Order: sequence, then structure tokens, then C-alpha cells
Amino acid sequence: MIYLNNAATSHPKPARVVAAVMRSLTQPPREAGRSSGGGNALEDLRQSLARLFNVARPDHIALLPSATYALNLVIQGLARPGSHVITSCYEHNSVLRPLYHLRQRQGIEVTYLTPEECTVEKIDAALTGHLRDTTSLIVLTHVSNVTGAVLDVRQVARIAAQRGIPVVIDGAQGAGTVPVDHRSLPGTVYYCFAGHKVLMGPAGTGGVVLPDDRLPQMIFGGTGVLSVLENHPETLPLRHEAGTPNHSGFEGLLEGVRFLQEDGVSALYAYKKELIEHFVEGSQGLPRVRLVPNLSDTHGTGIVSFYLEGASPQEMAMVLSDSFGIEVRAGLHCAPLVNGALGLPARGTLRVSTGAFTTHDEIDSMLGALGALSSLM
Ligand SMILES: Cc1ncc(COP(=O)(O)O)c(C=O)c1O
Repeated sequence: MIYLNNAATSHPKPARVVAAVMRSLTQPPREAGRSSGGGNALEDLRQSLARLFNVARPDHIALLPSATYALNLVIQGLARPGSHVITSCYEHNSVLRPLYHLRQRQGIEVTYLTPEECTVEKIDAALTGHLRDTTSLIVLTHVSNVTGAVLDVRQVARIAAQRGIPVVIDGAQGAGTVPVDHRSLPGTVYYCFAGHKVLMGPAGTGGVVLPDDRLPQMIFGGTGVLSVLENHPETLPLRHEAGTPNHSGFEGLLEGVRFLQEDGVSALYAYKKELIEHFVEGSQGLPRVRLVPNLSDTHGTGIVSFYLEGASPQEMAMVLSDSFGIEVRAGLHCAPLVNGALGLPARGTLRVSTGAFTTHDEIDSMLGALGALSSLM
């Protein structure tokens, strides 16, 4: 099977990730609950992630079940009832749905930046133009899971910092794809990440880099420590980590982050750029194949979407899978506003997304299959 759906979840996982999960499931737990001290996998993982994201304080990284969970925690904790929030048409439902929920329940108003407004040339003016006195939050995706476009997080942080507005970045696709230098970002930036994509961990892992300890607590309960207290601990990271953590998942994620750091984020970016450029060049001469523009020209994110004029992306994906053994993703990719904003077909697109183990031969196979399908129709 040729797996070109790494933006959904990375596959295969490195052998060391699989071994770490197996080890944690077959050996007695290193600790039954958790201790507040160091020397365990969770603290090792926080250290590794702090190096990856250049975070001054590892305890400012909360380890959570997913990027979606982290985004909910932060968005619901920060958006003031009745206030205004700026987001974009690129957003995944993990951002859109919490915002729809707050619009219905708490009367927030939402402005959606267009893909064009999210470009490096336009973002400054777009944000400045849309900011209101009532704006309480800016929530934007770092890397679009549909087009692979990259947001200039530093520019967003700078403009928001001038007005004292917190920024939430959906780094589900950005973490491990493009360097994150959290320590040097101005203002208050919450960086939410997924563990099971570029960071190579198992599903059910993710978290958030917190700029400070002011995010209100949303989830309360068992932590394994300070049991005598009525209140959930208020200090980071336990402040936002309730319940028994996903130990085996985080053991795997620790090895995934170590794997990524061996060659480094920039080397992986350069490799994925080669692969996507290979695909883009090879698909250009094919009849009826239309590539979705990546408005920031950042092929190293490893993501490209396209469609075949007149063909259903869902049927195409099925044929690619059944007849050619190639897995891609079809449809709206959980980001339903992108299609309309870019004038794409209502049924969505096909997405090729590469990973650390994708090869040029696999891209050739994909191009061969696409060539056969486009000339058949
Ligand atoms: C841009 C984006 N945001 C959020 C998510 C959700 O991440 P998680 O699976 O960790 O909840 C995804 C995953 O598909 C994504 O691509």
C-alpha cells in the first residue's frame, strides 16, 4: 500500500515509537499515578517539546489528548462572551466548531479572513482592518491542512501584541513541519499541537504551549497528586491536565519527537518539498488535473490538493485505493470553508500528503495512476 495521507495521521510510525508503546503496555508502569517531580516520560517529553518549540519553561507545555482538545480548552477559556473573534476560512472544524458553539451560546461575533488575507503580504493590513475594540481573540491555523499554505505567525503575534490580544495558533499541521520559536514571539501566543501527525506519535496525543499561567481552568479532577486539596492544582502543567494521562501514547510521542529531531525539522521540510515539487511538476501536463493554489508557495509542508474536472473526488479516491493501492484523502478535509473561499468544486478535492517515509518512487506511482485516470475520462 502506498500511503499518501500523512496530513490525516502519519504512517508508518518509526520502529522506536512502536517499541516505546509496546514497552509501556507490557511492563509495569513507571508510576501508577504521577509524581510532581521529573524523571518520567511525561517530563522527558515536555523537555523534548520545549527544545522543539524553543519554549523557556517545559512546565508551560500541557500534555493533552489532541489538538482539538487543546484548541477547545484555549478558545473557550479566552473568548469573552459577546466579544469579537478573528479567525480564517482555512480553519479545521477543531477551530470552527468551538467558535460556532460560542457564537450560539455566548453571542460572540466571528470574522473569517480569506486565504488571500492570510498571505504574508496581506495579513498585516487584514488584521489591522478587522480588529475592533471588542476583539478578544485571534485564532489562526499555522499550516493549512488543505493547501499547505503557511501563516506568518510572527507577524500575527506582533500585531496582536500591540493591542494586547491573545493569539491561538492551530499547530496541528505546523508542529514539526516549520520551525516554531515560541520564546521569541511577542505578546501572548498559545500554540496547540497534535502528536499523531508530523511529530510521529500515536493518536490520542497532543497539547498546548502556554505563554503564562493565566488561562482559566476548564477541566477538573484526578491528577494523582495533592489528593487532599478540594481544588484542582492551579500550577502548570497540572492546571490543565486532569485525569490519568495517556502514558503509552506519550511514551510513543517522546520517541517520535526524538526521531524528528535527529535529522531536524528543516531537513524533513526540504525532503517533503522535493517530493511535492516532483508531484506538482509531474501532474502539470495531465489533462483535467487542477492543482489547488498554495498561496504561500510552501511545498515543504508536504501537502497538495487537486481535483479532476468532472470527477467525484470520493470516487477517485476509491479507485486509487482499490485499483492502485494508493491511499489519499478526498472531500472537504474537515475544513469546510476553504472550498468556497478558493472557488473549488463543492464536493471538495483530493489531497496528497507526504511524510518522512514517502519515496520518490511512490510519487511516480501516484502520477502514473493519475495519468491513467485522467486520460480514461
Ligand atoms: C489543521 C488541523 N487542525 C486540527 C486538527 C485536529 O487534530 P487532532 O487530531 O489532534 O485533534 C487537524 C487534524 O486533522 C488538522 O489538520
